[in-house]
Amino acid sequence: MDKFIIKGGRKLKGSVEISGSKNAALPILMATLLTDEDCVINRVPNLRDIRTTIKILEELGKKVSYDNGTLIVKAKRKLKTSVSYDLVKQMRASFWVAGPLLARFKKTQVPLPGGCAIGLRPVDIHLKGFEKLGAKISMDKGNIIIKTRKLNPAKIILSFPSVGATQNLMMCASLIPGKTIIENAAREPEVQDLINALNSMGASIIIDNRGRIVIEGKEKLGAMNHTIVADRIETGTYLLAAAATGSSITIKECVPSHNEILIEYLCEAGFKIETTETEIKISKKAKKIKPVNIKTAPFPGFATDLQAPWMTLMCLANGKSDVSEDIFENRFMHAAELIRMGANISLERNCAHIIGVKNFTPAIVMSSDLRGGAALVIAALCAKGTSEVQRVYHIDRGYERIEEKLTALGAKIKRVNPAPFE
Ligand code: UD1
Repeated sequence: MDKFIIKGGRKLKGSVEISGSKNAALPILMATLLTDEDCVINRVPNLRDIRTTIKILEELGKKVSYDNGTLIVKAKRKLKTSVSYDLVKQMRASFWVAGPLLARFKKTQVPLPGGCAIGLRPVDIHLKGFEKLGAKISMDKGNIIIKTRKLNPAKIILSFPSVGATQNLMMCASLIPGKTIIENAAREPEVQDLINALNSMGASIIIDNRGRIVIEGKEKLGAMNHTIVADRIETGTYLLAAAATGSSITIKECVPSHNEILIEYLCEAGFKIETTETEIKISKKAKKIKPVNIKTAPFPGFATDLQAPWMTLMCLANGKSDVSEDIFENRFMHAAELIRMGANISLERNCAHIIGVKNFTPAIVMSSDLRGGAALVIAALCAKGTSEVQRVYHIDRGYERIEEKLTALGAKIKRVNPAPFE
């Protein structure tokens, strides 16, 4: 298993270019199942979750080529309607194939995604939506079987604005002739990017002035040509890495308005932020980092995926702050590792109480999940001395060429692939 050896205590400098969004790319790749025509998707980040999704598309019967960020998906043979457990267990978002496959074949079988490091993560909101669209749900040997003779358009009110359920249902409804309305839908930029991709295939989807997603379903969808939106979580992670290390850097090729609340909180914490249409420049304004409380919330609220890197920053603030995780249960595994690096954090249910310390101390730590891993990398960049971040495969799920990008910013970070007996 790869690990990072990081010599911390150095300031970052220069600029970093943001990749296409992983979370936007995953459902957009799955949307290619809605057509037999060719789909061309640009700015696809080269990440483990993307490679898993390519395997899923190939297993289902697509031919996929991926070169220099451009992914081309073509029809190869008649699509299968079920996915193997081996792939679903690697990535919970595999369940998002259910919507397109149900729409095209009126049946699909997908293994129930198992538990996951950041909580139970059920799919009940997806399933209730499929039922509204006329599907019957049953379980067989750990598989969810979703089928029907006929799907119908419907008004679906989500009990929570789940990102995945909104995307899965949108993909399904785009191939059901008639008007489907999703109320209390997620409004994350990744949802808008999927809308853009589906519309490029001939779908007709809008977000109306009441925030509802209105889908005029079509008999057939055609070729897709789409460029993935910038990754706002990667953007936020580099902003927080710069903030925690007290550095001035420029983030390029991003969409600053997708990180508005983070930018506001960083300003409150004492950083100077300047933005253009596609760039964010961060530098230190105050001498000490001011503590700021945050609560995670659906977009445009504070992203749960930035909660862990934000916690790293607050560990260095001048005083007490709270981080409240209101989206996922059990998303504080990084706290124990940050404590091993000298942080002062106490956990109380979904709230982390943090008392700032002067700096982290170098240590050997272990990533427990993708964003938690990024939080540890930032802490290691701050700690004066050599730290080791293990289980880098979590980080590789979501950060394209992270060590290369950090090295270009002046960090001392090296990937080590230990011998198998280590
Ligand atoms: C997506 C993102 C993930 C991000 C999350 C919230 C992808 C691939 N992943 O995950 O990085 O952290 O949005 O912004 O895009 N829930 C249910 N029942 C359901 C579905 C969800 O109870 O059927 C709950 C979940 O357990 C969680 C909350 O709703 O507590 C939010 O989940 P959701 O918005 O669905 O997240 P994902 O789409 O899985």
